[in-house]
Amino acid sequence: MAIIPNPHKTTGFLGWIDDRFPATKLWKDHLSEYYAPKNFNFWYYFGSLALLVLVNQLLTGIFLTMQYKPGAETAFDSVQYIMRDVSWGWLIRYLHATGASAFFLVVYMHMFRGLLYGSHRKPRELVWIFGALIFLALMAEAFCGYVLPWGNMSYWGAEVIISLFGTIPYVGDALQTWIQGDFNPADATLNRLFSLHVVALPFVLVGLVVAHLIALHEVGSNNPDGIEIKKNKDPVTHIPLDGIPFHPYYTVKDIVGVTVFLIIFSAVIFFAPDGGGYVLEKPNYIPANPQVTPEEITPAWYFGVFYAMLRAVPSFAGTQIWGVIVMFGAVVVLFFLPWLDRSPVKSIRYKGPMFKILVVLFAIDFIILNYLGMHKPSPERTLVARIGTLYYFFFFLGMPIYSKLGSTKPEPQRVTA
Ligand code: HEM
Repeated sequence: MAIIPNPHKTTGFLGWIDDRFPATKLWKDHLSEYYAPKNFNFWYYFGSLALLVLVNQLLTGIFLTMQYKPGAETAFDSVQYIMRDVSWGWLIRYLHATGASAFFLVVYMHMFRGLLYGSHRKPRELVWIFGALIFLALMAEAFCGYVLPWGNMSYWGAEVIISLFGTIPYVGDALQTWIQGDFNPADATLNRLFSLHVVALPFVLVGLVVAHLIALHEVGSNNPDGIEIKKNKDPVTHIPLDGIPFHPYYTVKDIVGVTVFLIIFSAVIFFAPDGGGYVLEKPNYIPANPQVTPEEITPAWYFGVFYAMLRAVPSFAGTQIWGVIVMFGAVVVLFFLPWLDRSPVKSIRYKGPMFKILVVLFAIDFIILNYLGMHKPSPERTLVARIGTLYYFFFFLGMPIYSKLGSTKPEPQRVTA
């Protein structure tokens, strides 16, 4: 049967492939003929960095899995074996553990960029929603991974987080036992979290990242001016006048971001591999012990904000369910952001002082809540956490009102590179 020749007129081996698989088409559509706004700035490094860290986690994870042995009796020792006896095992483990922290740092910056430039607004709602789903999957992935070394903090972290399901009225206790596969976190729990961490959730994450990028390339990238470059096209070539091909311009620019990132990342791995106790926490250097609670059960730093909110809400009638609802609400509210923001302009550059102040306060609030989540509570700290939690929700839920108020500057017709 005759094969229809590919429209790219490629010949030789590539031509043979292109007649059967859209290799050149994919390269052009997503790189060499994907026109991105020419005014990307610092904040636009974090998308490609998130991809880099994702690849790092997948590769180092594969090699860790070759030596790690899930199971309450074997997990802790197998991690020590990786650190001491496996050739380069220490490096692989540090790359993976530090990579987890780097992932959240990069993703938080990436999300904040979206907030600054209105990248969640029409027509990028689905780009944002896939992003929020990625964030949820990433949290689940990080939690499962944290439990795997079966150190004492792994154990008690699992205990605290899984017991949140126990707060659900009527079904809570049964649900908690079902999730754990036992009455406490135990061998069965560890094995199922391992399976989720190395098989199910990586598939979900990669699938969501692909969907995220397909959605982005369908509508095109936003930019620091928050204007649509597709509105100004060359009448002959139909190429956006303010667009430049992603490859080679941004592939080369992203190498700068990658280089700076790798310098900082290597500095942590080689000079402070436990990240001052934030990447690998002290109690996790001793094996899980159901009899001995760590002095203070703190979550990994990247969950600090959410943990602070959980603790900030007082328990009513002996149940913590309201804290759990508030904590999950803090993530759920992100999904609605595209519709909460009613400002006539997208980018912070053209918004009035009110939004600028509110967004700076939001960033400060986020850092304070994070700090509080990682440190021992006291009556004063709980009060601050309560105020911080209220502000977090005000920032999002008050947006439909305050985003319409206040002055805005007119958006330019063309990007201001
Ligand atoms: C594994 C995690 C993630 C990866 C690998 C990833 C990757 C990317 C990449 C490569 C881009 C294009 C380059 C750029 O604009 O920086 C992008 C854009 C975008 N991402 Fe993500 N992303 C991730 C998570 C998230 C999350 C959690 C959110 C928000 C909840 C999000 C929201 C967005 C938005 C709104 C854009 C469009 C930005 C614009 O055009 O201005 N992403 N992402």
